[in-house]
Amino acid sequence: RWSVDKYVDDQDSYPQISQAADLLINNEVVAFPTETVYGLGGNAENDEAVAKIFAAKGRPSDNPLIIHIAKEEQLNAFVEKIPEKAAQLMKQFWPGPLTLIFKKKAGSLSDKATAGLSTVAVRMPDHPVALAIISAAGLPVAAPSANRSGRPSPTTAEHVWEDLNGKIAGLVDGGPTGVGVESTVVDCTEFIPVILRPGGVTKEQLEAVIGEVSVDPALVDKGEAPKSPGMKYRHYAPDAPLTLVNGTREYIQELVDKKKAEGLSVGILTTEENLGFYRADYVIACGKRADLNSVASSLYDVLRKFNNTNADVLFSEMFPQEGVGHAIMNRLMKAAGHRVINS
Ligand code: TXA
Ligand code: MG
Repeated sequence: RWSVDKYVDDQDSYPQISQAADLLINNEVVAFPTETVYGLGGNAENDEAVAKIFAAKGRPSDNPLIIHIAKEEQLNAFVEKIPEKAAQLMKQFWPGPLTLIFKKKAGSLSDKATAGLSTVAVRMPDHPVALAIISAAGLPVAAPSANRSGRPSPTTAEHVWEDLNGKIAGLVDGGPTGVGVESTVVDCTEFIPVILRPGGVTKEQLEAVIGEVSVDPALVDKGEAPKSPGMKYRHYAPDAPLTLVNGTREYIQELVDKKKAEGLSVGILTTEENLGFYRADYVIACGKRADLNSVASSLYDVLRKFNNTNADVLFSEMFPQEGVGHAIMNRLMKAAGHRVINS
């Protein structure tokens, strides 16, 4: 396990960068920070390396991985063609928290990495450590979030350690990640691009560059099968059952009091603004409501914190469906198994 406090453009003073790259070249798996969450990287061209990623995570093999690159030229080896709108999005948002789905060049990359699909998901992360490792390895790097499947994604090296200690060849510690929720996944194989997973880049930001963008109906209506295989799995769930409450803090307090009367231990996910208001066994603030980026940034850490409590049931406030609020609510709804109480 290595620590990177600060990356300067001199790989010799950061041997962990080249050690991580060597492991990737040798088809071992290594966790490293990106600007969204920590990723578990492996050589996307090698079946064995990719199999190690799935094994370490306990991930179902029908859920394809995102391929991480450091330079646009890397796309030529495995992407059939780059549609005009995708090119515009790349210019505006790469490196950054945006994953684009392209038609895959047949015979390129490990079919295990793309779960046998004819498409491939790609992104260029906006993190100096991730970019340095990918460049030094000179490979397309398959990297899902570095958590055990079903657990909240890791936003610190400690989270990765909790989940994958003993299961991976290395972990590069670059401190806490910034964005806190995963990249936005956009299917660019359709004329009107489709958001398959809301994330760090918002719909509004995408539309400002390429005009109309649609949203996978499965994200809105639970009845539809999602187009992104990963979206159908239970995910992010804390150990105790979580319920989202669409109501005032007074109403949330009433719900808590009822559970307390039943002898249960209760946790509340709130924000700094309301921290002093509630009486419960565990009251944890997830950023500031007035700044949704701060909520996104601490969301997974807070979900993990509840696992270190003895809470029997958890309640959470809800967040506005605007900007990064879409990604926050998407993850919270999954964590809650879609349980919502309306006042
Ligand atoms: O921010 C992120 O995207 C992080 C960091 C590490 O880069 N990575 C990440 O990877 O979240 P993962 O594997 O946890 O999520 C990948 C998502 C899954 O929902 C998967 O189903 C979807 O992308 N995906 C991958 N390839 C796809 C494809 N060809 N078509 C549709 N969805 C795809
Ligand atoms: Mg994940």
